[in-house]
Amino acid sequence: MRKIKNVILLGTLACSSIFAQQKPVYLDESKPIEQRVEDALSRMTLEEKVAMCHAQSKFSSAGVPRLGIPENWATDGPHGIRPEVLWDEWDQAGWTNDSCIAFPALTCLAATWNKDMALLYGKSIGEEARYRNKNILLGPGVNIYRTPLNGRNFEYMGEDPYLASRMVVPYIQGVQSNGVAACVKHFALNNQEIDRHTVNVNVDDRALYEIYLPAFKAAVQEGKAWAIMGAYNKYKGQWACHNQYLLNDILRGEWGFDGVVVSDWGGVNSTKQAIYNGLDMEFGSWTDGLSEGASNAYDNYYLAKPFLKLLQSGEVKVEEVDKKVRNILRLAFRTTMDSKRPWGSFGTVEHAAAGRKIAEEGIVLLQNKNNVLPIDLNKAKKIVVVGENAIKSMTVGGGSSSLKARYEISPLDGIKGRVGTQTQVVYARGYVGDASGNYNGVTSGQDLTENRSESELISEAVNMAKDADVVIFIGGLNKSDFQDSEGNDRKHLELPYNQDKVITELSKANKNLVVVNISGNAVAMPWANTVPAIVQSWYNGSESGASLASILVGDANPSGKLPFTFPVKLDDNGAHKLGEYPGNGEVTYNESIFVGYRWIDKEKIKPLFPFGHGLSYTTFAYGKVSADKKEMDADGKMTFSVSVKNTGNREGAEIVQLYISDLKSSLPRPVKELKDFQKIVLKPGEEKVVTFTIDKSALSFFDAAKHDWVAESGDFEALIGASSTDVKTKVGFKLR
Ligand code: GLC
Repeated sequence: MRKIKNVILLGTLACSSIFAQQKPVYLDESKPIEQRVEDALSRMTLEEKVAMCHAQSKFSSAGVPRLGIPENWATDGPHGIRPEVLWDEWDQAGWTNDSCIAFPALTCLAATWNKDMALLYGKSIGEEARYRNKNILLGPGVNIYRTPLNGRNFEYMGEDPYLASRMVVPYIQGVQSNGVAACVKHFALNNQEIDRHTVNVNVDDRALYEIYLPAFKAAVQEGKAWAIMGAYNKYKGQWACHNQYLLNDILRGEWGFDGVVVSDWGGVNSTKQAIYNGLDMEFGSWTDGLSEGASNAYDNYYLAKPFLKLLQSGEVKVEEVDKKVRNILRLAFRTTMDSKRPWGSFGTVEHAAAGRKIAEEGIVLLQNKNNVLPIDLNKAKKIVVVGENAIKSMTVGGGSSSLKARYEISPLDGIKGRVGTQTQVVYARGYVGDASGNYNGVTSGQDLTENRSESELISEAVNMAKDADVVIFIGGLNKSDFQDSEGNDRKHLELPYNQDKVITELSKANKNLVVVNISGNAVAMPWANTVPAIVQSWYNGSESGASLASILVGDANPSGKLPFTFPVKLDDNGAHKLGEYPGNGEVTYNESIFVGYRWIDKEKIKPLFPFGHGLSYTTFAYGKVSADKKEMDADGKMTFSVSVKNTGNREGAEIVQLYISDLKSSLPRPVKELKDFQKIVLKPGEEKVVTFTIDKSALSFFDAAKHDWVAESGDFEALIGASSTDVKTKVGFKLR
C-alpha cells in the first residue's frame, strides 16, 4: 500500500512540476511580450477573437474567460474618473464609491508650461483609474485649437503643436506608470463640434503634419501611448475611426504604433472599413435595427456577428482579426495581466494637492494695472464678489468629461475660506447663466434659480461694489450647451449672459476691479482697457476656489502663460477670416499652417492677449541671447544662452520661450514658431542662464511634395520671448 501511495505521490509531484514547467507561455511574465501574444492568440477560438474586438457594455469589451484573460474596462476622461454608468446606458449607475478628485482641465495643464506638472497630473489621474480597476483612460485630448468657438477646446492643450507635444508626453508616461493605458484622442482633425459625426475635413499635408499631427506623433513615439481613439469626423472621405490614411499609413506605417486603436463611441460606420482600415476595438455603436442600448445589441456591432460571418465564410482572412487581437492582447499584457503594476489610490489628499498645484501654476495673470493684485488683506476690509461662476459647480457638465467630484471648492468659498474673518466678503449674483445643475445625471446639488431681472441684479452688484476695497467679478463661460461643451460649439466670441454690461457697470462703480474669466476658450473683452486686473482661470476641478484664492491674495505667485491667442475679434482668427468654419458637411482649413499666433504674426494683427502671455507679481529682465556658433551643420546642434534675472521683490517663475524664424524659405513659413521653452524659478535678485539646444528638426518644415521634413540652408533667427509678441532678444545664425 505504501508503495502505491509513494508512486501516486511521485506521480503527482512529477505532474505538478511538469505543469509548473509547462506554465502556458502567455501567462509567463518572464517571456517576451510578443511571444506571449502569439501563444495566447494560438489558443483562442475565432468567436473569442471577434468578441475581443467590440464592446460588451457601454465601457467594456470582452476578455477570454476560458484562458483567464481579463476584460478591458475604459473610462472617461481626461480630467478625472467618470462615475460608473449602467451596463448599457449613459445613465449613472448610482454607485456610492465612485466620487473622484476632479483635476483641472487640460487647458490649465497646458498653461503651466511645466512638464513636471504633466507628469504629476498623469500619475495622479492614473492612480485614480487604476484604483477603479479601469485599464484604459479615455484621455488626454490633444486636438489643436483652430477656432475659439470649438466646444471642446477646454479638454485640449491649445493652439501650438510644440507646446501640446511637450505636455502630452509626461501625462501619458504618468498614466501608464500605473499599468493603465492612456488613450490619446481624437485622432485626428476633430477641431470643431458642429457636425462632428459627419464633417469631412480637407486640410493640406503641410498643415496636417506641421500643426494637427505632431502632438499625436509625440504621444505615440515619445509617450509610447498604448491606445489611440479615432475621431468622429472624416478625413479624405473616410471616417477617422477606420481610416486607411490616418491609421494604417501614418499611425502604424510612419510612426510604428503598436497599441490599440479604439473607436470613439459611435464612430464606426462600416464593417469592411473597420476590418481593413486600422480599427481594433469598436465601442458605442448605435446598432442597426435596435434602439440605442437595447439589450444584447452588441452582437449587432459592425465588428461582431457581421465580422464573424465574413471570417467563417472565408471572405475575410483570419489574419485580419489576428492583427486586431494581437494589439488587444498586447494591451492586456501591459495592463490587466501585469502582476507588478501598482494598486492605485482614489480621492486622496495627494491627488487634491496635485490638482491645486497644477491649477496654481496654470492660472494666468493677463493684466495688473496699478497693482490691484495681489489683494492686500491688511488693507482690504470689504471684498465684493460678483458673478455666477463664483458659485456654479464646474466639475459637472461639458459632456463626457463631466465628473462626480468628491468635493469642489467654489471661487466664492475659496476666497471666503482664505481671507477668514478679518475681511468681509459679500456676494452678488450679477447675472444669470445656466441655473440647471444636472449633467449626464450628475447633479451639482445647487439650486441656482433666480427670478430677479438683469437690471435688478446689476444694481444690486453695483450698489454693493461702491464702498468695497476690492471687487472681484468671476464670470466667463460654463459647461452648458453652446458654451465650453462637447457636441456643440459657441455661437460667438463674446461673453454670454450680458456679462459685458455687468463688468462695465462695475468698472464705473469701483476702480479696484478684478475680472476673473473662467473658460476653456478665448473670449472678447471690450472692457479690457477699463478693468485694471484680469485673470484667466480655468475649469480647475475640486480645488478650483482654493487655487484661485491663493493667486488673488498672493500666496502663490501666478506663473501661467496662455496656450492660445486671445483675438480681439473673430476675424482676427485665420479659420474665421479665410474660412471654412464650420463648413457644410465639408470643412476646408484654408488658413493651412497659419493657426493661432502664426496667423497673428503673418497678418500683423495685435491680439488682445498673445499666445505665451502671462504676468507675475514680480518682474524679470532678460540679457542678450548668444549662440555657441554662427553656423550649424545639417547634422549638428546649436545652443543658445540667455540670462534671466528676477528684478522684483518676491520669488517667481518665468517661462522663457524660444522661437525660430526661417528668414528665407522656398515655401511660405510662419514668421516664427515655438521650438523650446523652460520654466525657471528665481528668487528676488537671482539670475540664471537658460540654455536651449536645437538640431535641424527645429528648423524644418514639412515638404508635401517630398513627403518629408526639410531644413533648407540659409539664414535663421533665434528669438527669446516672454510671449509670442514680447520678444526680448534675438540672434541670427546660419544653417550650412
Ligand atoms: C464621446 C467623446 C469621447 C469620449 C467617448 C466616451 O462621444 O467624443 O471623447 O471618450 O464618447 O464617452
